[in-house]
Amino acid sequence: MTRTVYVNGRYQPYSQALVHAEDRGFQFGDAVYEVCEITGGQIIDETRHMARLSRSLAELGIAEPMSPAAWRRVMRETVRRNRVRNGALYIQVSRGAGPRDFLFAGVETPPTVICIARTVNPAKQAAAAEAGISIITMPEMRWARCDIKTVMLLPASLAKEKAKAAGAQEAWFVDAQGLILEGGSSNAWIVNKDNRLVTRPADNAILRGITRTTLIDLLTRDGLSLEERAFSRDEALAAKEAFITSATNLVMPVVKIDGQAVGEGVPGPVVGRLRAGFHEVAEAAAL
Ligand code: PDD
Repeated sequence: MTRTVYVNGRYQPYSQALVHAEDRGFQFGDAVYEVCEITGGQIIDETRHMARLSRSLAELGIAEPMSPAAWRRVMRETVRRNRVRNGALYIQVSRGAGPRDFLFAGVETPPTVICIARTVNPAKQAAAAEAGISIITMPEMRWARCDIKTVMLLPASLAKEKAKAAGAQEAWFVDAQGLILEGGSSNAWIVNKDNRLVTRPADNAILRGITRTTLIDLLTRDGLSLEERAFSRDEALAAKEAFITSATNLVMPVVKIDGQAVGEGVPGPVVGRLRAGFHEVAEAAAL
């Protein structure tokens, strides 16, 4: 099947899905994005993802490229044309293209808009969740506005390469006080000795994950206790369970931190229950 990518109003064959050489997303990382899970042919938590996209655009003063109704059409059409039942939907908006200039005034085009739908094998995800993942920790090296979901992902990419070299699947950034911030592309959580769920407050230092927000709905529904506060690497190592959340991993157990086992070194019951219950509270929009 030919893959199709939406680029600036047109559905293009994958090999022709191109943007301009002087796009500001390419030259300055001046672009924002979203990733939504697609499961059973449904887009998960679309409303929250689109609200966060609008916030990211507003924070950077990039114009909304189209109406909410137009976004919905483009997202569905991209999923449909690529026949994705399970996978991820990626959307990106850059400020546009123009002769290279640090200032915005040189932008000559409307915002650049991209939508890509990709199939992911759910069995692979399930196998990863069965085994749990390993993570490493490393000092924070990103900017001070990680609450904006920009494409400036080089630090995350380098961190994940470092994790891979160490046999791990994710890296947790640690702040100057020794407290865990978040993963390269996920939020960080622990289940402490008192069975309380702990995750860092969503301030400007981390992304307010949509999976994180929806998981908090699940905790509320099920009467589980939540502490939104920062925790240290030592606290994570002493925790009963640890996990990450993201649209691509959902709720994924962490069984090792810097080579040391968390709890029994296998996925624990709380994470299993949260993963199983996630879609009971998430919004699922039919195509
Ligand atoms: N990343 N923190 C960071 C730095 C992220 O990049 C992400 C998501 C998250 C989790 O957010 P959400 O639950 O809304 O997916 C937290 C996406 C999946 C990515 O870059 O592929």
